[in-house]
Amino acid sequence: MCFSRLRALWACAFISIVSVACPSRDAQSQSGRLADTPPMGWNSWNHFADKVTDADLRAAADAMVASGMRDAGYIYVNIDDGWEGQRDAQGNIHSNSKFPDMNALADYVHSKRLKLGIYSSPGPKTCGGYEGSYGHEQQDANTFATWGVDYLKYDLCSYMSIMKLHDPHQDPQKALAMMQAAYEKMHQALVSTHRPIVYSLCQYGVDSVWEWGPKVGGNLWRTTDDIRDTYRSMALIGFSQAGLEKYAGPGHWNDPDMLEVGNGGMTADQYRTQMSLWAILAAPLLAGNDLSKMDDPTKNILMNKEVIAVDQDRLGIQGTRIGLPQIWMKPLSGGAKAVALFNYVTDDEAEPMTLRLKDVGFSGPVHARDLWAHQDLGILHGSYTVTVPQGGVVMLRLWK
Ligand code: GLA
Repeated sequence: MCFSRLRALWACAFISIVSVACPSRDAQSQSGRLADTPPMGWNSWNHFADKVTDADLRAAADAMVASGMRDAGYIYVNIDDGWEGQRDAQGNIHSNSKFPDMNALADYVHSKRLKLGIYSSPGPKTCGGYEGSYGHEQQDANTFATWGVDYLKYDLCSYMSIMKLHDPHQDPQKALAMMQAAYEKMHQALVSTHRPIVYSLCQYGVDSVWEWGPKVGGNLWRTTDDIRDTYRSMALIGFSQAGLEKYAGPGHWNDPDMLEVGNGGMTADQYRTQMSLWAILAAPLLAGNDLSKMDDPTKNILMNKEVIAVDQDRLGIQGTRIGLPQIWMKPLSGGAKAVALFNYVTDDEAEPMTLRLKDVGFSGPVHARDLWAHQDLGILHGSYTVTVPQGGVVMLRLWK
């Protein structure tokens, strides 16, 4: 074998070692800049589903500013499934007639000091049956970057049938490797656009995505199946997150799906439960209601700045359950702690619950503030007993 051929082979081997070894470093460098705290914003799916239009997006952006949501930290305005049109002869994706001009829409959103999110799938079709990115990953990433997109939700959907096609025996290891490769492929495509784009993995929490999400560049990953606007769905998802806390941190978050606050299927107490639990979980806070028609209770829940501060605490520690019935705690910067007491069984009456301070790591007296009543409670000694409404929550901030 001639020397130059040998050298070329070595170079090749080196490049392939590097390209196998590099993704996680790239992943971290992209993640490190993005989503230092859990992303906050709005997503079209829970209220508009695939009927969403350009006008709905603009109205959501307007309402985010007018209502004060932007100033409370909600920044991303995310289009979910239903924007996709056809590909042209060169394979470039176009939006459908409901979104006549994506560049203009992005300009509009950016002019409000907000950011734009979009949705696609590693499969040929999205979950709604629209065009996915399969075979066009780099092209779509480039298109999204050219449009001015700042956030991509990448939803597994029909990629599952590609996995089956390539491996009819469905070896779980092979399936996992294929899925990871598909997510990594889009991650690399996003990185090579040189535009910071938050990367949101959506594959419903299968194969313990929290263990490998950061390695394929994920800034957040769904941990469960889709949420619905019922207390049962929200509570099953939210209260099942205990144990995942070690996988979350700045740049990479567990995502128990979007908020349903304001969509009408739960009581105000139950929506306070979702907002509090998601904040304790350091979960992304993506509102999913019609922002142009919010009543005051909805605004007060979504814009409770004291609860948002728990979610967005710069330490980025996901809280967890520290006792049954549901008492949850999240460590905060400066040695403070957020504690939430949930009366989660809905057929119960409002009931007294007792928090023992030593159970959340305080040996002496602590200052306390009620984050929903917006009231200082003075100094607590030993324990605190409070009546928690049915399906509701009392949320405290405790500090020495
Ligand atoms: C899946 C996702 C949802 C939504 C729909 C869109 O079900 O989990 O969040 O994006 O697809 O079709």
